[in-house]
Amino acid sequence: MTEQKPSRHLFRTSQLEEADGPGHNPTANPTMGEIIAARFSRRGFLRGSLAATAISATVSPLALLAADEARAEGTVEGSAFDFPEVDAGVDANHHVAQGYDADVLLRWGDKVFADAPEFDPKNQSEAAQERQFGYNNDFVGFIPLEGADDRGLLVVNHEYTNEHLMFPGIVTLKDGEISVADATEDRVNIEMAAHGGTIIEIRRVDGKWQPVLEGALNRRITAKTPMQISGPAAGHPRLQTVADPTGTKVLGTINNCAGGVTPWGTYIMAEENIHGYFMGALPEGHAEARNYERMGIPEESYAWGKFHDRFDISKEPNEPNRFGWIVEVDVMDPNSVPRKRTALGRFKHEGAESALAPDGRVVFYLGDDERFDYVYKFVTSGRYNPDDRAANMDLLDEGTLYVARFHEDGSLEWLPLTHGEGPLTAGNGFESQADVLIETRRAADLLGATPMDRPEDIQPNPETGRAYVMLTNNTKRKEVNAANPRAENAFGHIIEIIEDGGDLAATKGRWEIVVKCGDPSIAEVGATFSTATTENGWFGMPDNCAVDAEGRLWVSTDGNSPSDTGRTDGLWAVDVDGPARGTSRLFYRVPVGAELCGPCPTPDLTTFFVAVQHPGDGGEDWEGHGRPSYYEDLSTRWPDFRDDMPVRPAVVAISKQGGGKIG
Ligand code: FEO
Ligand code: CA
Ligand code: CA
Repeated sequence: MTEQKPSRHLFRTSQLEEADGPGHNPTANPTMGEIIAARFSRRGFLRGSLAATAISATVSPLALLAADEARAEGTVEGSAFDFPEVDAGVDANHHVAQGYDADVLLRWGDKVFADAPEFDPKNQSEAAQERQFGYNNDFVGFIPLEGADDRGLLVVNHEYTNEHLMFPGIVTLKDGEISVADATEDRVNIEMAAHGGTIIEIRRVDGKWQPVLEGALNRRITAKTPMQISGPAAGHPRLQTVADPTGTKVLGTINNCAGGVTPWGTYIMAEENIHGYFMGALPEGHAEARNYERMGIPEESYAWGKFHDRFDISKEPNEPNRFGWIVEVDVMDPNSVPRKRTALGRFKHEGAESALAPDGRVVFYLGDDERFDYVYKFVTSGRYNPDDRAANMDLLDEGTLYVARFHEDGSLEWLPLTHGEGPLTAGNGFESQADVLIETRRAADLLGATPMDRPEDIQPNPETGRAYVMLTNNTKRKEVNAANPRAENAFGHIIEIIEDGGDLAATKGRWEIVVKCGDPSIAEVGATFSTATTENGWFGMPDNCAVDAEGRLWVSTDGNSPSDTGRTDGLWAVDVDGPARGTSRLFYRVPVGAELCGPCPTPDLTTFFVAVQHPGDGGEDWEGHGRPSYYEDLSTRWPDFRDDMPVRPAVVAISKQGGGKIG
């Protein structure tokens, strides 16, 4: 993965995530990374989609034979899964396990309303984009309507935009590198309309899902949608701006990565890499300097501040304090005002998956996706009322935010971020709970939280009182700890949290590593997939995940590539129980350049919705392209494969041919 800082106003996927927050260890020992990169870049570049075959030659023949037999039968002893595995590799299309269909449901530019304009990528406008499906779909949630299996609302985050893939005529190549023309106001406004989220009714007709463009609840949310700020930090002077002297009203939500659906059926959008949207410099000696430095603000990947003062911190120094929150949307009212719930803290929120504790309180697991940042959870003060939806609508304004300390002996402590307790006092610059929440990271630093290898999605299983934490990678780690045991962790790992007494609201627990990711055939990598895992079944860089209705874990990835792992990203089924624990197998893979997001199984387990994000963003290291990919010269034109259509991020519905349970 690329590690250089992005050039100003050129947004390449992963660069925001990879950009370093100051205060982090800036040094890197490249030895390990170089070993792996050299190995895969040679394979990936020379052999392309044959890379997976080449890799198999380094596994012991016996292990390979056993694994291949198991794969052919689709069974591994004790496994919860029995589908025939997909071959890992790289090409321009997506691939799903034999016996399944992967149908494109919604693409960037598709109508969200019956009266929306047809997608015309060469003449895109803000007004059209506001009525069409946005860019770079990430989180996907399904909210059944009236308890039906065949009708519901699909809620989808649009995390960010890739200008070089979206807009014709703006890229020139300089020394073989993509250079994007200076932003225009129209382009910025289209980008802002392509951010946010989509709420759209879908129905299953004759076994296939389709959007219902007449759906009364259909809605687009963008970077300009009016929102309310609620909870302990609402109205605080640090959130007040020229446009909003009350500190309670904000326009839009940005960089909505993963998210969640609450037990009462609201849609959660997590604001992640907000630093890239701000430009300019704080006035000399401004009080927010320390706060913004900890968040890497400003980072200037986008030029929005040229046309909208609020994204220029020299003009609106408090605006960044109004982003980095968890947003809750009432999907049953298309005119509802989304709420930024400050009680859940401000950081680079990956997602917010929730489940009920035995006493009815609601527990949200929260990752802060940056190297050496933390794992959090939020426990509501109030209890969920299954008989009164309205009574649940402000549960997220009151509760306790905790940060995790993973002890070396395998125990776990949840430390409360409560004003007045421990170091969270005026003496350390925290005058109130609002200050603790606005600078959650600094509060967690003082409490001694465990610095992690980029916490992404975290999925609780309320049946077992366990939660699965995706730690995607951290190539800058030098000092290891038990929960982050690999220096230069290029491929990430998965931790299982086992809450005391099976109670998700517990303040103590245990933890175990389910698997250290990467190629098990390279000893230096130190991967720990079970020996039943085939050469197709291993992966690097876990990112999003889902626990399905049967408690089975599914993991999607971000960062596999021809040169890093000889494969694209995809959806892997990972056994977590019994003798097959640590066995992984590939169910679906994406086209070149994409990452896979939002794995969302329906409650009846007959459909898996997945989000193919930034397809075509890459291909330099793939023999099928071998040069930069941009609007006029794309590495793939998935999913339309039409000369007059660019590549389009899309949500895909996966189902079993003839119906039935997936996996
Ligand atoms: Fe938007 Fe942490 O991935
Ligand atoms: Ca993610
Ligand atoms: Ca990621």
